[in-house]
Amino acid sequence: MQFSYLCLFLGALASGQASARSSQKVYKYVATFSVDGLHSSDVGKYTARRPNSTIAQLLETAYRYTDAFTSGPSDSFPGTMNLYTGGSPRTTGIWYDDTYDRTYYLPYSTTGTNCSGPPGAEVAYDESKDYNSTELFSGGIDPQNLPQTIINGKCVNVYPHQRLRVNTVFEVVHAAGLQTAYTDKHPSYDVVRGPSGKGLSVGYFPEIAAVPVTVKDTIAYDELHVGAFLAWINGKTPAHSEIQDELKGTPSVFGGNFQAVSVAQKTKGYVPGSLDFTPDLLQALDFVDASFAKIVAALKCKRIYDDTLIVVTAKHGQAPIDPSLYQKISPKLIAPAAGVNLSFVTADDIALIFLENHADVDTAVDNLNGKRDELRIQDIISHERLTYLGYGDPLKDPAVPDIIIRPELGVIYTGSTAKIAEHGGLSDDDRKVACFISNPSLKKTIYDHKVSTKQVAPTILKALGLNPKALKAVVLEDTGLLDGF
Ligand SMILES: *[C@@H]1O[C@H](CO)[C@@H](O)[C@H](O)[C@H]1NC(C)=O
Ligand SMILES: *[C@@H]1O[C@H](CO)[C@@H](O)[C@H](O)[C@H]1NC(C)=O
Ligand SMILES: *[C@@H]1O[C@H](CO)[C@@H](O)[C@H](O)[C@H]1NC(C)=O
Ligand SMILES: *[C@@H]1O[C@H](CO)[C@@H](O)[C@H](O)[C@H]1NC(C)=O
Repeated sequence: MQFSYLCLFLGALASGQASARSSQKVYKYVATFSVDGLHSSDVGKYTARRPNSTIAQLLETAYRYTDAFTSGPSDSFPGTMNLYTGGSPRTTGIWYDDTYDRTYYLPYSTTGTNCSGPPGAEVAYDESKDYNSTELFSGGIDPQNLPQTIINGKCVNVYPHQRLRVNTVFEVVHAAGLQTAYTDKHPSYDVVRGPSGKGLSVGYFPEIAAVPVTVKDTIAYDELHVGAFLAWINGKTPAHSEIQDELKGTPSVFGGNFQAVSVAQKTKGYVPGSLDFTPDLLQALDFVDASFAKIVAALKCKRIYDDTLIVVTAKHGQAPIDPSLYQKISPKLIAPAAGVNLSFVTADDIALIFLENHADVDTAVDNLNGKRDELRIQDIISHERLTYLGYGDPLKDPAVPDIIIRPELGVIYTGSTAKIAEHGGLSDDDRKVACFISNPSLKKTIYDHKVSTKQVAPTILKALGLNPKALKAVVLEDTGLLDGF
């Protein structure tokens, strides 16, 4: 452990009487955790298995949303934007960590030129932006690795936060004179700073790509995030933090993610038939639970547990849960199946297709229809249905794909042999995620109707006594608060 804090006040604190109205309370702190991959169904399975877990204890005084859906697509990047902007890809412009924009240019480090040639380029915000992605901390984002675009006649490198079209919870909280801290898996999570670039007092972004893709190594990686959570509770910052303003105490909003469950799902998954957790997945869940125990103990020790609203959710689920549904199809089959020139395809358990010429869309859709069996296609979304279903209009928005392919549940367009599950797609296994909000003053309540994780964003602001409508996406998409708030 990098940090350890002597706690003089361990032990139970008296908690206030739970009441239905206590959600009107203003909290001093909101702690938000994404357990990446954690399905809604996993929560019930886990607490059945571990009735004395910290997660089970947190749920005793929590509002739990059992029918909560993350963004579609359900990639980590738009899933994160749901939580911290209150908006979906058509509003945020954040579709995927690796996708395309019709008005962008490739990075200087790729082409040796600045915005030359016809526009239209891959926009990747992942480990490929780092100075050196084989190191946990290589100094963050190398601007020469950033995609470029022309603004006011000038070619500029576009940081992730500049790609985002609307403000974030962190910006609103920071602008109110409060402090914020966030940790996630790449320096590219700079995106949460928001368009101003000023949202985070402290960012902490060890590079996950520097770590082998095993549960054990990912747990060791997640320990860095846990170290940061414990440090922040104590008003400290771990080494290698990106600091805008030094913490004066516990930040008003702090959070981040856990990666171990996602890696366990992708590599080991669920037991065929029973769909119980495999030992690796249970180990990852136990690790996350033990981490929550440390966080709760640190909050109690600091005597701020009663003042802290704890949000536990997930940027994304993972599909399929049932391993018998898994089927791998080469993403290389997509372009020939479309039969027209493509600019770019984002392929996971979804395919986002950008055409060289939008005029080819009828031909491409006809051709893809003829390959439904080969590509195991469930749905092809294009034309007016893109707008109708809330994805936006590819003729007006350079970030919106011309065609979205939704494959059948369990199909992954990948060349990898390592993965048995993936996320990014539109299935319930991808999107129906854990979501509960805990504080000792809350009366245990289950809300079982459909909600969106984008409702987390305005709820964080409301909990802190700030205006939820300060978030542009909340106004644009009319995003409501979560029930109970
Ligand atoms: C949970 O805790 C109770 C009380 O401490 C104990 O009796 C019980 O055996 C525990 N259950 C499990 C599954 O550990
Ligand atoms: C591209 O822009 C960078 C500054 O971002 C500059 O250092 C470099 O000389 C430019 N290169 C060309 C070929 O224009
Ligand atoms: C990246 O870091 C690794 C590990 O420190 C080192 O071996 C490698 O040379 C570095 N690569 C570059 C291009 O600097
Ligand atoms: C498709 O791309 C090829 C190679 O770049 C090009 O020669 C051809 O003209 C393109 N076809 C159409 C219809 O744009």
